[in-house]
Amino acid sequence: MSGPNKSYDPVEVTPLNAEEIDRFVTEAIAAFAAATTVAELKEARIAHTGDRSPLGLANREIGALPPQARKDAGKRIGQARGRVNQALAARDAEISAAELEATLRAERVDVTLPVATAPVGARHPISGLMDLVSDVFVAMGWEIEEGPEAESEWTNFDALNLNVDHPARTMQDTLFLDPPSDHLVLRTHTSPVQIRSLLNRDLPVYVLCPGKVYRADEFDATHVPVFHQFEGLCVDKGITLGHLKGTLDHFARAMFGDVKTRLRPSYFPFTEPSAEVDLECFVCHGESVNNPDRPCRTCSSEGWIEWGGCGVVNPRVLIAAGVDPEVYSGFAFGMGVERTLMFRNSAADMRDMVEGDLRFSRSLIGQAR
Ligand code: PHE
Repeated sequence: MSGPNKSYDPVEVTPLNAEEIDRFVTEAIAAFAAATTVAELKEARIAHTGDRSPLGLANREIGALPPQARKDAGKRIGQARGRVNQALAARDAEISAAELEATLRAERVDVTLPVATAPVGARHPISGLMDLVSDVFVAMGWEIEEGPEAESEWTNFDALNLNVDHPARTMQDTLFLDPPSDHLVLRTHTSPVQIRSLLNRDLPVYVLCPGKVYRADEFDATHVPVFHQFEGLCVDKGITLGHLKGTLDHFARAMFGDVKTRLRPSYFPFTEPSAEVDLECFVCHGESVNNPDRPCRTCSSEGWIEWGGCGVVNPRVLIAAGVDPEVYSGFAFGMGVERTLMFRNSAADMRDMVEGDLRFSRSLIGQAR
């Protein structure tokens, strides 16, 4: 800033020219009024109140004036700047309010619209069915027991009376885990949980054991190498084949409604006597038997379809698990969950159960409950 100027010409010095100052004010207010957006108002503010604006430049000149003139000019310019700033603040408030209003209008949300529920997965029908089966048995006072999927050869085979030379132990069926010296397999059935239950629990034992099992099987419409079973085991005093039949009948009705079951003699090393549990064909109800005019694909016109295996627990199994077969007896059964789902929900192809297509899961999950 320069020092006091003693030889100034009052007419040429802007800060003392009241008309010119008024004009600056009028121009500034007009520019603010013409601005319609925050950005335009910012431009107008810089042009009319900034250091290089007419009022800003005039303000700078004040310092060079003699004392009395400086006082007059200071007052005049101060008032002028005050009016400009007031007009600016008022216009700023107007424009901000208008812009806020426009934004709110543009981003309006209709909270009464229905919510778009983005589908994010579904429970698998196999899990749903395992829960349902568990519920049926828990309702009868049974308990749920689980075992490991990597199982010792002893529990998976030996303790169940499957000798070293039994065909089920060969590489064709069983997936062995490395190193062979650990004698671990991926369990080929849920029957090892029978042994674990007898070893871990006090008698009597009433357990249902749902879980995953593994076999080196083909992958086609009726076989998958990883599938699910549920095992049932009851060991108590005075248990007979009649208890097994009654339990299976109740279970079959809970699963399939009013169906007949049949025990067909069979062989399992861990039960004696052993049987296959058959269900009356739910498609032809036996009407296709000896009736060439009405063949049934579901049961191959046999009237029955195989559901699982069962039998009276072999005394050798009880002995292996430290239970006295002179005092206790029991029954066991084992069924495939995938097979049960096929019967119950008319799912024709097992491959659908492993491919993870949500449409498959959603179409069955309601029915599985
Ligand atoms: N574990 C047998 C299987 O996987 C089924 C079964 C269980 C048979 C219990 C009898 C008793 O085929």
